[in-house]
Amino acid sequence: MEFLDLPALGRAAGTVRLPGSKSISNRMLLLAALAEGTTEIRDLLDSDDTRVMLAALKALGVGLEPCGANAWRVAGAGGVFPVKDGDLFMGNAGTAIRPLTAALALSGGSYRLSGVPRMHERPIGDLVDGLRQIGADVRYLGNEGYPPLQIAPADLRLDGPIRVRGDVSSQFLTALLMALPLTGREATIEVVTELISKPYIEITLNLMARFGVRVEREGWQRFVVPAGQRYRSPGVVHVEGDASAASYFLAAGAIGGGPVRVEGVGRNSIQGDVRFADALETLGARIEWGDNHIVAGAPTDGRLKAFDLDFNHIPDAAMTLAAAALFADGPCTLRNIASWRVKETDRIAAMATELRKLGATVEEGNDFLRVAPPAALKPGAAIDTYDDHRMAMCFSLACLGGVPVRINDPKCVAKTFPEYFMAFEQVTAPVIAIDGPSASGKGTVAQRVAKALGFHFLDSGALYRLTALAALRAGVALDDETGVAAVAAALPAEFDGDRILLAGDEVTEAIRAEEVGVGASKVAALPAVRAALLDRQRAYRHLPGLVADGRDMGSVVFPEAPVKVFLTASAEARAERRYKQLMEKGMPANMPTLLQDLQERDARDAARSVAPLRQEADAARVDTTAMGIEEAVAAVMEIVRRQLPQ
Ligand code: DC
Repeated sequence: MEFLDLPALGRAAGTVRLPGSKSISNRMLLLAALAEGTTEIRDLLDSDDTRVMLAALKALGVGLEPCGANAWRVAGAGGVFPVKDGDLFMGNAGTAIRPLTAALALSGGSYRLSGVPRMHERPIGDLVDGLRQIGADVRYLGNEGYPPLQIAPADLRLDGPIRVRGDVSSQFLTALLMALPLTGREATIEVVTELISKPYIEITLNLMARFGVRVEREGWQRFVVPAGQRYRSPGVVHVEGDASAASYFLAAGAIGGGPVRVEGVGRNSIQGDVRFADALETLGARIEWGDNHIVAGAPTDGRLKAFDLDFNHIPDAAMTLAAAALFADGPCTLRNIASWRVKETDRIAAMATELRKLGATVEEGNDFLRVAPPAALKPGAAIDTYDDHRMAMCFSLACLGGVPVRINDPKCVAKTFPEYFMAFEQVTAPVIAIDGPSASGKGTVAQRVAKALGFHFLDSGALYRLTALAALRAGVALDDETGVAAVAAALPAEFDGDRILLAGDEVTEAIRAEEVGVGASKVAALPAVRAALLDRQRAYRHLPGLVADGRDMGSVVFPEAPVKVFLTASAEARAERRYKQLMEKGMPANMPTLLQDLQERDARDAARSVAPLRQEADAARVDTTAMGIEEAVAAVMEIVRRQLPQ
């Protein structure tokens, strides 16, 4: 895909489960590889940068085995890589090449490290200088100070402190810290300039400690790795959600109303980038912290406040604030961000160029950026992304200003977040929730409304019907909550146009049988079954929008839906409709029984403890007792037009 066209959007609300943190994933992989014992890493990020690290470790002879979704078992090499000679390709992964260079320089082998052309423009000289001070043999194969590198075995000497600069990338210090325990001797590092991005060093020290190695530090200037320490596997470790990735969704909540909830990071996070939420709060956003989640909403008075802030501590997440500045009530200044110049691209220049395409007035300094937002964003800007995942993710936010935006080369997000745009849809695609009792006509109406708007369509009742049918076919009793929930979680259902398939078998008609409807109503009362179907229903939310029909679309599945309709009709009218339908199909039908069945089912759907059927306070009521389908569709379309202006 060469570009992605995002439509004009205005609102963002919903929930996103974050992928694993890149910084933690790559550090944990290396530490587990260097450790004694086997480590199981769960929730590892699956992206270009972690694949680079995994491939390099495999090439170095480290035992790696997948063990479930996003989980890896790493057989630690105990400090010595089995393979002593190799060519390693590092892509554009700074979190891979820096620490590996240091670890390999101290491991007595011959290695060549190279990457994509941009990697060969990203400095590594400060790290190489540090390693040479202790006798390591590291040479430049291209330009002095940049990869590609050649590493050869050498006699190490650890007589004096290693002096290293900390003002270009904190990853040089991280790399030395992680590698030095391999020498087994006491080692001291002195940071000779101001250290940037300090929170990343905290992640490093925190993870080293989890693998049994303690570092003594005096402020941010002097670090001592005491002698005789070795990495030991802590057994099973979990990777937190990516706090930098969280920034896009939190910003979306602050710009697009919210609430947007990110799951996977929270007040217990060890990542410095969670402080992005504080910065956003300074801009007026409403922020709520949980242990493992953060929620963001727009300022009470609607508009984000202009800011002038130092972002040295959150260089990556600060890019998101440059994009958020488009929505501020005045000119904004981002200070102390010189490190942007040596990242995936020159991010200061790239940001300035692309923000201008949207109409912003931008002043670009050596280590700062000043962004004056336009009165109205320019529609239809084609944003270049410079092979920089964060450029693509940042500029997706612009469409929340109610203008269409084109993102060029959107697949560059694969560096850290391959599913980014899917997740973005999960909080931005507008949802029209149509709830109501059985046979109120909501299925037909919802389908017609979806068609008229060009939106996707979710018939959630069909999922409960499919679950009941699958359980009946598998011989699982419909009151066996655990059993039916397992069926629901693994439901092999497919929607192929108008056809519905269950394990490849067409069941379009079969799930409409009365017996299956009654079964659906029974399994729908089981909390574990409802929970098992929740993510599956939310996954239907895609751009340009979704019409979802059911019982709890507006209350539980999409509580943030901007349009909620409660479609109903008298029980008599509904029984009559069902009667006609059955007669048309030539099926036996009996009015009194149908009416009684309907009333019983209404009572069961309304009385259950989870997601009972009822009209939400913010749902518009449409009573179709005296309406035909066309009138009902027109009534809903009118509500949509009122509440969804675009
Ligand atoms: O809308 P329907 O008749 O196809 O729904 C079948 C059953 O599933 C119905 O008894 C209620 C239940 N259901 C539910 O509990 N929640 C939904 N969102 C959709 C349907």
